[in-house]
Amino acid sequence: PLVSPKEMFEGAYAGGYAIGAFNVNNMEIIQGIMEAGSEENAPVILQVSAGARKYAGQRYIIKLMEAALEKTDLPVVLHLDHGPNFEMCKEVIDGGFSSVMIDGSHLPFEENIAMTKKVVTYAHDKGVWVEAELGRLAGVEEDVSSDEHIYTDPDEAVEFVERTGCDSLAIAIGTSHGAYKFTGEAKLDFDRLDKIASLIPGFPIVLHGASSVVPEFVKMANEFGGDIGGAKGVPEDLLRKAASKAVCKINIDTDIRLAMTAVIRKFLAENPAEFDPRGYLGEARKAVKEMVRHKITNVLGCSGKA
Ligand code: G3H
Ligand code: 13P
Ligand code: ZN
Ligand code: NA
Repeated sequence: PLVSPKEMFEGAYAGGYAIGAFNVNNMEIIQGIMEAGSEENAPVILQVSAGARKYAGQRYIIKLMEAALEKTDLPVVLHLDHGPNFEMCKEVIDGGFSSVMIDGSHLPFEENIAMTKKVVTYAHDKGVWVEAELGRLAGVEEDVSSDEHIYTDPDEAVEFVERTGCDSLAIAIGTSHGAYKFTGEAKLDFDRLDKIASLIPGFPIVLHGASSVVPEFVKMANEFGGDIGGAKGVPEDLLRKAASKAVCKINIDTDIRLAMTAVIRKFLAENPAEFDPRGYLGEARKAVKEMVRHKITNVLGCSGKA
């Protein structure tokens, strides 16, 4: 059934594991994630970005989701990823999403609080969960090195949570979006995470930009005509450590993109006469499933927790 993240996060916090939040853009991605979750009896979060919503259409996503839920008893959250404003949060809440993120992390503190509060008031009235963000996840594309990320200030985090009434908080401790996360050594500020967790005990923390940029997929893509250079993600042991702490939701998009692109490149290169999309999209779906299964069993620790 479609559920709120509440029980998922309570279990994750108490049990020292995390729930995977996977970005979805089409049928094959949804099916791959759902198959992995079902086989592992793991709760899953399907998240839709503004870009995904524009690409597929909100109604299509919701109908695909309904079809997925007819086939399983698994608890599933349908979440808006990086909601840019109140209006979009309202539209997906009215459309039936069980969770939204309002991302005011680029705004000044007081403006972030004001926008988040407005979403919380509307969402809570309808029983919908609200994730907010404080701190910046700088990307290489913004031309700042990883130690210039604007990490979340622990005291501000406490004030932000108290004043907004948000249900979970995305923090900046060194991750970033995309395939180029670290120029030097990959490291996360776990002291900061622990400090924040100690000030808001029991409060679920969210880690964005948490793809590992699986080297096998980068290699495969490059072997079959790709040109993905210098890619570097969050090592799995750092993610396991985060999952064992207050981090209850770990966001993964880039690894899905890389898995699909790698196997599609390989399939088309090895089968040059093939032109049935079911061939390469079927391979892509299988790759998503296996990648998600690996995360569930070996990284997140949420296998059997549904
Ligand atoms: O956080 C960003 C996610 O990876 C979604 O990316 O906005 O290109 O759909 P997108
Ligand atoms: P990645 O780019 O590391 O997959 O992060 C995805 C994300 O944070 C979506 O909100
Ligand atoms: Zn994100
Ligand atoms: Na955890």
